[in-house]
Amino acid sequence: MMKQRSDNEKSVFKAAQGSVSWKSPANIAIVKYWGKYPVQLPMNPSLSFVLKNSVVKIRMDYDINPADHFTLAHFSINGNQNDAFKKRITAYLEGLTEHFPFLQHTRLRIESTSTFPHSAGIASSAAAFSALALCLCSIEAEIRSGKSVEFFRKASFMARLGSGSACRSVYDGMVVWGKTPYLPGSSDEYAVRLDDQSVHPDFFSLRDAILIVDSRQKKVSSSEGHALMHQHPYRSARKNQAENNLKRLLNAVKEGDFHTFGEIAENEALSLHSLMMSSDPGYTLMHPNSLRLIEKIRDFRRETNIPLYFTMDAGPNIHLLYPKEYSDRVVPLIRDELAERCEDREWIDDAMGRGPVNLGKEA
Ligand code: DP6
Repeated sequence: MMKQRSDNEKSVFKAAQGSVSWKSPANIAIVKYWGKYPVQLPMNPSLSFVLKNSVVKIRMDYDINPADHFTLAHFSINGNQNDAFKKRITAYLEGLTEHFPFLQHTRLRIESTSTFPHSAGIASSAAAFSALALCLCSIEAEIRSGKSVEFFRKASFMARLGSGSACRSVYDGMVVWGKTPYLPGSSDEYAVRLDDQSVHPDFFSLRDAILIVDSRQKKVSSSEGHALMHQHPYRSARKNQAENNLKRLLNAVKEGDFHTFGEIAENEALSLHSLMMSSDPGYTLMHPNSLRLIEKIRDFRRETNIPLYFTMDAGPNIHLLYPKEYSDRVVPLIRDELAERCEDREWIDDAMGRGPVNLGKEA
């Protein structure tokens, strides 16, 4: 659906300069995307929400000249030039010219700033690729004068081509990526936001405290993990499990059923790590302290009846999920009992966020 730009369009580009800027958040999945087909088409549908404090800000200066070719003239992260990333971003941008023909004649400067603690071991790629995709859509809107109605859908599609989970970072609220019979309008190519009638208001006060168990770079990347799903002995069972969890989760989110939400979050996190352990070759990204923390979280829930649940990404860190009204019980628990199992007692107090922000030309 995104290929309708005609080649003739290239010839209509006029010289133009400007600057756009977006701030975009990381997201945390409750039903996990695990396994993909090229390019970043998911093996199963997933559902996530964006965070409030873990964001990447990107400023993109563009100079379009029909006589020039694409150049990424500058790329920095938090003020430092980063050649490895510059290479990855250059390849990504070069791959997008069919969707953004103006790019073929554009010189770009990109400055990226991240609020992620440098050593936290939290993937910032979803935030970064969604911010990049939003900036590109803004440039397109500026040179065509006017945002298209499909602005965010296109941004989601483009973000997906950089990193699958990034397509879920362009919206606020609860977001689903991957075609499923349980959500009309869902797609493998881009994510969709659940409308307000489909999310119980109680979920908007959702907290996510991220316990940093180990901040070192992981031994096996997500992309390698996705690839191992193709021959995985539990592949078809996993697809059914994700579909079924998504169906139940959509219902729980609508009804305000936090217990089912939490149970699914934990089931998905432990299933994700089990899939890693049982792939060929198998591997572990859990840390002994991840398991100790899980036990403490479950003991606390049993003893207090407070709906404190956890999820995990493809790494050892633990995301604590709970409604804001329990902060005065959960924060002391973190400080007094959980932080001692974290690296340097580090944890990040985060929450469901309001989605990306267009910072315009000023940032
Ligand atoms: C475990 O989106 O990082 O976080 O598409 O290869 O860039 P690529 O992978 P990525 O995978 C994320 C996997 C996950 C689950 C999720 O976010 O749904």
